[in-house]
Amino acid sequence: MNRKVIGSMLIIGLVGIGIIVFLQSPWYRSGDLSLPKEVKGGETSILEVSAQEKKDHPVRKFVLTAEEKQWNISEDKKVSAWTYNGTVPGESLHVTEGDVVQVKLVNELDVPVTIHWHGVLLPNKMDGIPGLTQDAVQPGESFTYEFVANDAGTYWYHSHQQSSIQVDKGLYGSLVVEEKEKEYKKDEVFILDEWAVDQEREDISNMGGMMMGAMSGDGEADTKQMYDTFTVNGKAGRAIEPLTMEAGEKARLRFVNAGYQEHRLVFPEGSMRVIANDAEHVVSEDHESNVLEIAPGERMDVEFTKPEKETVFIGQEQSVENAEDMIIPVVSERNQNRHQGATLAKEAGVAKGISYGSEKPIFGEIPEPDVTYDMDLSMGMSMGEGMSFQINDETFPDTPPIHVKDGDIVKVTLRNNGRMNHPMHLHGHRFQVNSKNGREFEKPIVKDLIHVKPGEEYVIYFKADNVGEWLFHCHDNNHAARGMVTIVDYEGVYSPFDLGGEKENQPN
Ligand code: C2O
Ligand code: CU
Repeated sequence: MNRKVIGSMLIIGLVGIGIIVFLQSPWYRSGDLSLPKEVKGGETSILEVSAQEKKDHPVRKFVLTAEEKQWNISEDKKVSAWTYNGTVPGESLHVTEGDVVQVKLVNELDVPVTIHWHGVLLPNKMDGIPGLTQDAVQPGESFTYEFVANDAGTYWYHSHQQSSIQVDKGLYGSLVVEEKEKEYKKDEVFILDEWAVDQEREDISNMGGMMMGAMSGDGEADTKQMYDTFTVNGKAGRAIEPLTMEAGEKARLRFVNAGYQEHRLVFPEGSMRVIANDAEHVVSEDHESNVLEIAPGERMDVEFTKPEKETVFIGQEQSVENAEDMIIPVVSERNQNRHQGATLAKEAGVAKGISYGSEKPIFGEIPEPDVTYDMDLSMGMSMGEGMSFQINDETFPDTPPIHVKDGDIVKVTLRNNGRMNHPMHLHGHRFQVNSKNGREFEKPIVKDLIHVKPGEEYVIYFKADNVGEWLFHCHDNNHAARGMVTIVDYEGVYSPFDLGGEKENQPN
């Protein structure tokens, strides 16, 4: 070992002590927390505003029960999971655009929970944020969510109470809003995730990983240290359910990343084309790229055509640890012989969230903003408090909110000055990504999550057209739990809820 290595190990060790102290006292347990005063100010309660008309749409009713279950990730990996309706992921909800979706959440866990409808444009009071849009649903109690599913596309739902913990433990599922006229007969959802089956590893190595990330420049060193198993629809490796398709058949495959780590899936050459991203159709004739890069929280839909072969594989690119867990065999009806001889195709180009323009941009030309907000993303450390993830040098709830009025055009410049990746997600709206590192995109991209990597800068625009109090946060929920959250605060409305308190409202 040379001196440099020993030196860095010493630093890690020292910092580790501070970190362990910190682990005993995450920010949210440290008492005195309140929403920014602007979020509490205004005439009208967010409970009284709604951006949706119900008309006479058909009503689709579901019940989701939050309950604890032993979950078998694979033959030798069992975890005690928190689930919606007993499985991980929870029940996959399928509705048709225009339906009124009514979901009764019944809480049979012994901790409070909620449901957030990730990506869905809905009334603020249905957004599922404890302490902001509702009180957390207490053990033994229930809450009914209701909204109109206006825009077809791939969505997902997850608890937003202590989300860093609850999503990790399995409280998530998919919501597919189908087009009135379906284009693909075969249509499947795959939710990707990481698990810490070995819990000790999770606690000790998370912080070490953050430190290593800070030094090594691997923007995901923290999650990589923390988790030891990858899953597809709650299963790893050979336990993953194969997809049955015949050669030449086409399907719409919807991918959701419920984890905190980016995943890169390798497809057989020439077999896929991205068709949608965060529920927005993209314009693309690219059949060359065969690697799909999906950020934490992101959804990407592809059109997949099965090549002339009995069995092919879609799987995590091999360069990361645990890659072998994440492999989907595509078999034929007559040969169900799943995981034998699993090899991945050669990589020929990466398709990601910012690769293709959207079919329907929000703005034709770059608009004149009414509000501008510079969002600096960074990482901090202080003895006693440990690691934090900051927006404009503050941690939630002290981060400066984005103040808007109904109808405003809002311009946000996101800049990552830290050394970790930050998939930033906005609730209740979609934004248009216009430029990266000062260079304009030829075709703007409409999304609700933008993956901002170290050194990157994105300029996004959105229209403030959904009155309420909305989160804008990092979807590596471990970063959100350590501060990287802010609020889009509309003038004139206030949240009647509070962080903490008897209901233990802890949104991150
Ligand atoms: Cu998946 Cu705050 O969201
Ligand atoms: Cu982050």
